[in-house]
Amino acid sequence: MGKLEGKVALITGGASGLGAEDARVLAREGAKVVITDVQDDLGAAVAAELPDGLYLHHDVRDPQRWAEVVATTIERFGRLDTLVNNAGLVRFGTVETLSYEDFRLQTDVMVGGTFLGCQAAIPHMSRDGSGSIINMASVAGLKGISTIPAYTAAKAGIIGMTRSIAVHCREQKYRIRVNAIAPGGIVTPMTAQALAQLPQDAAGLDQIHDHGMGQPIDIANMVLYLACEDGRHLTGTTITIDNGETMA
Ligand SMILES: NC(=O)c1ccc[n+]([C@@H]2O[C@H](COP(=O)([O-])OP(=O)(O)OC[C@H]3O[C@@H](n4cnc5c(N)ncnc54)[C@H](O)[C@@H]3O)[C@@H](O)[C@H]2O)c1
Repeated sequence: MGKLEGKVALITGGASGLGAEDARVLAREGAKVVITDVQDDLGAAVAAELPDGLYLHHDVRDPQRWAEVVATTIERFGRLDTLVNNAGLVRFGTVETLSYEDFRLQTDVMVGGTFLGCQAAIPHMSRDGSGSIINMASVAGLKGISTIPAYTAAKAGIIGMTRSIAVHCREQKYRIRVNAIAPGGIVTPMTAQALAQLPQDAAGLDQIHDHGMGQPIDIANMVLYLACEDGRHLTGTTITIDNGETMA
C-alpha cells in the first residue's frame, strides 16, 4: 500500500527536472498525478510514464487557466490533496544589467504563480477537509547572489508567502499544511543551462563546487514526506536541502 493511495496531486513545471521526479515519486506511492507546464511534448511524455498521469498545458501566470486546471483535476480525479508549486526559471544579470522585463518574468512566474496556485487550490482542499501545499523556494532566497537579484527576490518572496498562507489556513481552521523547500544546487536542465552560460568564476558557483550537486530524488523524497501523513506536524516552514551550503 503506497503512502498516497487515493490521493490526487497537481505539480506545476512537471515536464522537467525536479517537477518530473516529484511526479514519478508521488505516483509510485499511489497518487493520481496531474502535471502542468508550458513544454507540452516533455510534459506529455512524463505523464505517459505514470499510471493515470494527466498532462495539461498551463502557464502559471494565468489566473483563468489555474481555475480550469483545478476544475479539470477535480472532474477527472474527484479531489485535490497536494499542490506542488514548482514551476520556475532563472534569468541572469546584476541589479545594473538585468532588464525590468526579466525581473518581472521571474517574479511573475515564481511569486505570482505560487500565489495563484494557492488561491485556486485552497477552496477545494478545504472542502475536502485536508491538503498539503509545497512551494519550491531555493537557498537563493536565503542569501545574496549578485547575478540573480530577481530570482533571489522571488524565492525569498515564496518563503515569506508560504508562512503567511500557512497562518491563514490555521486561522481558518483548514486542515491544509503549507510548506516550502529550499534546495541547493540540484542536477536538472535548469542548472545545466545555467552552468553552461556562466563563466567558471561567476558568483555563487564556488558554493556548488564546495557542496556538490544533489539529484532530483533528494528533493522528491521531501515532497513525498510533506505530501503524506509522515509530514502531518509540519506547516509554515521552509526545509533547506543543500548539503550544508547555508549551514555556516
Ligand atoms: N535545480 C536546482 O538546482 C534548483 C535549486 C533550487 C530551486 N530550484 C527550483 O526548483 C524548481 C524546478 O526547477 P528545475 O531545476 O527542475 O528546472 P527545470 O527548468 O528543469 O524545470 C522547470 C519547469 O518549469 C517550467 N516553467 C517555466 N516557466 C513556466 C510557466 N510560466 N508556467 C508553467 N511552467 C513553467 C519549465 O517549462 C520547466 O519545465 C524551480 O522553481 C527552481 O527555481 C531548482
